[in-house]
Amino acid sequence: MNQTKKRVLVSGGAGYIGSHVTVELIEAGYDVVVADNLSNCDMTCFEGVKKITGRDDIPFEKMDCCDAPLVEALFSKYRIDAVIHFAAFKAVGESVAEPIKYYKNNLISFLNILDAAKNHGGCNVLFSSSATVYGETDKLPVTEESPRQPAMCSYGATKQICEDILVDVVRATSAYGDEIKAGASELGPVKGIALRYFNPIGAHPSALIGELPRGVPNNLVPYITQTAIGKRECLSIFGNDYPTPDGTCLRDYIDVVDLAKAHVAAVARMLDGKMKKGYEIFNVGTGKPVSVLELVTKFEKVNNLKLNYKFAPRRAGDITAIWADTSLANKELGWKAERSLEDTLKSAWQWECHLAGK
Ligand code: UD1
Repeated sequence: MNQTKKRVLVSGGAGYIGSHVTVELIEAGYDVVVADNLSNCDMTCFEGVKKITGRDDIPFEKMDCCDAPLVEALFSKYRIDAVIHFAAFKAVGESVAEPIKYYKNNLISFLNILDAAKNHGGCNVLFSSSATVYGETDKLPVTEESPRQPAMCSYGATKQICEDILVDVVRATSAYGDEIKAGASELGPVKGIALRYFNPIGAHPSALIGELPRGVPNNLVPYITQTAIGKRECLSIFGNDYPTPDGTCLRDYIDVVDLAKAHVAAVARMLDGKMKKGYEIFNVGTGKPVSVLELVTKFEKVNNLKLNYKFAPRRAGDITAIWADTSLANKELGWKAERSLEDTLKSAWQWECHLAGK
């Protein structure tokens, strides 16, 4: 029998993670609608997605999810089975300087999506959350049960608040907290999964999509690749006096394609009625801590180049160490990170070279 394909709305789908997720969804057989206001990206990655998938017909809606009537119209135009919500601002430092901008954008866009989902007969909602919700803790690795700490910036606060909003909406409209029978589909309008990402890095092996920071990068890997290509003079390693084996911070760097595959697994879990509760949380990481210095050294080695770097004072707000306990995602999503750090760091460099036309 020819079944109708399930359709997934990817808000913020032209961005770094959204474009990788769009590729994996299409390759897994889903129909996708991408909505993006292009406020922090251009069409480079969306064009790359079309090339990788060989699909010229992926619907793209240039729109701001903060515009409620537009979001309503989007849900009227397409039959949406699941939403993956990426459309949000994400720069930690900027969020400290401009909290109102962050709260307005990140909360209103998510509320509009949830409202439209509810009004259109319900939906499965996957929220793009972050390990930032755990804050600083010495109980490592963190599990989904680890307590959240007060947010250290408005960006982090919006992630926590959006998680809480999703919990409330699921509770009000669905079966939050109740046991869900396998295969049950009559549960009610909104079910939700929050994926808490650790540090996504790298690019698609085709080098046709990747991270495209505007201005000076805040995150480590784009700063490394831009330094290697000569766009930045020197990488500053923020702090070498942390209580870690080599004095630099420890993080859990997750390959962006592996991360994208976790979204496909989570969407399938929702659509196939496999959720055990109306709201679930999964850590998405590798489970392996890597120091900043190790990452830099590995980048040099696998790409056979020398990076100009120096040690600099600690960056305000950085935590010493965080990495994931991924056993829940491994077990429940049937997913685990597979790409080696070496391959991921090669892909990051190939993407930077692609951008430079080399
Ligand atoms: C930050 C956010 C996190 C978000 C992630 C996206 C917080 C506290 N952190 O994580 O929520 O999901 O970005 O990727 O909200 N570093 C340098 N030199 C640089 C840049 C970074 O040494 O030029 C170091 C940092 O001190 C840190 C590590 O590299 O130890 C990773 O930094 P970064 O890539 O910015 O990610 P996080 O701060 O861990």
